[in-house]
Amino acid sequence: MCGIVGYVGRAEATPILLDGLRRLEYRGYDSAGIAIVDAHHKIETRKCAGRIASLSKLIAAKPVSGSYGISHTRWATHGKVTDENAHPHFDATGRLALAHNGVIENYQALKEQLIQDGDTNFRSETDTEVLAHLIGKLYIDSCATTVDVEQKKGRLVNAVRTALKQVIGTYGIAMVHADIPDFIIGARRGSPLVLGVGKDENFLASDVSAIVAYTRDAVYLNDFDVVAVERGKFEISSLAGEAGDRQVSKVEFTAEDIKKGDYPHYMLKEIFEQPVSVHDAMRGRLSLEECTAKLGGLNMNPQQLREVERIVLTGCGTALHAGMVGEYVIESLANIPTEVEYASEFRHRNTPMPNNTLVFAISQSGETADTLGALRESRRKGHRTLGICNNVASTIARESEGGVYMHAGPEIGVAATKSFTSQLVILTLIGLLLGRMRNLSTAEGSRMIGALEALPDQIKEVLQLNDQIEAIAKKYLEVNGMLFFGRQFNFPIALEGALKMKEITYLFAEGHPSAELKHGIIALVRPDLPSVFIAPDDAIFSKNLNNMEQVKARKGPIIALTSSDGAKKLKGIADDVITLPDIPDCLMPILSVIPLQLLAYHVAVGLGRDVDKPRNLAKSVTVE
Ligand code: AGP
Repeated sequence: MCGIVGYVGRAEATPILLDGLRRLEYRGYDSAGIAIVDAHHKIETRKCAGRIASLSKLIAAKPVSGSYGISHTRWATHGKVTDENAHPHFDATGRLALAHNGVIENYQALKEQLIQDGDTNFRSETDTEVLAHLIGKLYIDSCATTVDVEQKKGRLVNAVRTALKQVIGTYGIAMVHADIPDFIIGARRGSPLVLGVGKDENFLASDVSAIVAYTRDAVYLNDFDVVAVERGKFEISSLAGEAGDRQVSKVEFTAEDIKKGDYPHYMLKEIFEQPVSVHDAMRGRLSLEECTAKLGGLNMNPQQLREVERIVLTGCGTALHAGMVGEYVIESLANIPTEVEYASEFRHRNTPMPNNTLVFAISQSGETADTLGALRESRRKGHRTLGICNNVASTIARESEGGVYMHAGPEIGVAATKSFTSQLVILTLIGLLLGRMRNLSTAEGSRMIGALEALPDQIKEVLQLNDQIEAIAKKYLEVNGMLFFGRQFNFPIALEGALKMKEITYLFAEGHPSAELKHGIIALVRPDLPSVFIAPDDAIFSKNLNNMEQVKARKGPIIALTSSDGAKKLKGIADDVITLPDIPDCLMPILSVIPLQLLAYHVAVGLGRDVDKPRNLAKSVTVE
């Protein structure tokens, strides 16, 4: 949610900041802005509603020049999407500019206090502007006597600390002051912020992808860190003023990895990366000798694993759907009671959880506020809490007691695709590991490993269906929505198919267990509302077939996903049949979701939607 980039160095700041913003645009794209301190110690700002492209045009028409500054791409929380509400915001003097990611919950109270103190110079409806005014006021109050630049730096940092101690809410901020040359300040609580360490230049960003083209040396800031950044040095301290010692880490990926290559959209590129990302999710984690999975990152010994009595899987959106598949998979392989919880609900309710409950927070970004909240609440209650994350330096990854990384590589498209299949692989590995410590025989374990190893090639086969799926999508561009149905392992895939469809095509879409059709949903069935059935030829195929007949009888078009034998049985019933390779039931979701990702993609392209940046959405949801 919102992206921040800051730069201080010897180069021209504007192109670096714009380039960084473009890479962070997936985090929010309602409005964008830049604030640069020029050679005359004046802050030049350009900002506007709309995307980075609009900001670039604005800057091209009226260039800004300077070697340090900050920038922001916004996902609106407080205040409409207008030029005035775009960041950066200023203090009352106009000498301090601030970009913010997060929510200042008590901004109204702080604003009233500032107004009472005589500050009436507010120009926007945002919570961020209030923070800028508060820091600005505290700074001015502390500079009553003339001080030199070094003292000003210290006083500005102190003003930031004092202001942030008054704030209730979350923030990742970057800030410049026109009176203090070559100096930017960053701070975080609840919203990610990373410091990029360069040679005679330093960077701040919400995500390393913004700066990886310039440096791969990064310091991931912790909550309550304040960092004072200059060209050749940086100083991290806590809100209390204690010095912080942080390690510089190497970023795992390069600027090349976050390019679109020949693909028209990141989403399509990421769908086609799944043979590799699925392989990477299990690489080095399968033991043929012991017919099990090896997950050292869980940081649990065999005794502790053996004692697990219950599992809770929590996450949001696509990650939640992965958890729902995980519930079926873990229960079938390991026979351990497993629950899936919406992170946003779980954290606020008193779910009965016996001792020896293992909680997994599933999150691609590792920064989702609701999932992080659920993780913290579970830890507070004393449960062992583990992460399934893609972003290795993320807050969830760092705050959990262990976990399993997805190693899917950067996922830029707002619609999650490859991270989902990686999550499914990891949940299967967890089921296999725990199952082999309980009821799963060596023969069954060995069969699972064989099937897992065959997955990347089977995914390649599924991807070859792309043309067929594109043709199907073209048939259904005029529809009024789509329904998705599945049973057992594939019921959550119906939910995921519907989520993909609605988030990038804006069509109405719902997913349901197939059997629920007759309990109400069938009232929706009509010729302009196709139903997508995920119905492999498994033990419950005939039940899915009954449901398809019910739709057919009411003239509802049917798109069916099935396996080879199922395809023959669906002749005359389904209008379109997509045939998937045969695979054990519990692994079918890893294949069956891919045609649904492609279907949503091609419908979205056919309808002229902005696939990678769908309206109103942002990739990383760091607000509640
Ligand atoms: C999926 O396509 C969505 N963009 C969204 O539901 C996403 O999965 C959710 O916000 C969770 O994100 P996370 O995995 O980064 O926690």
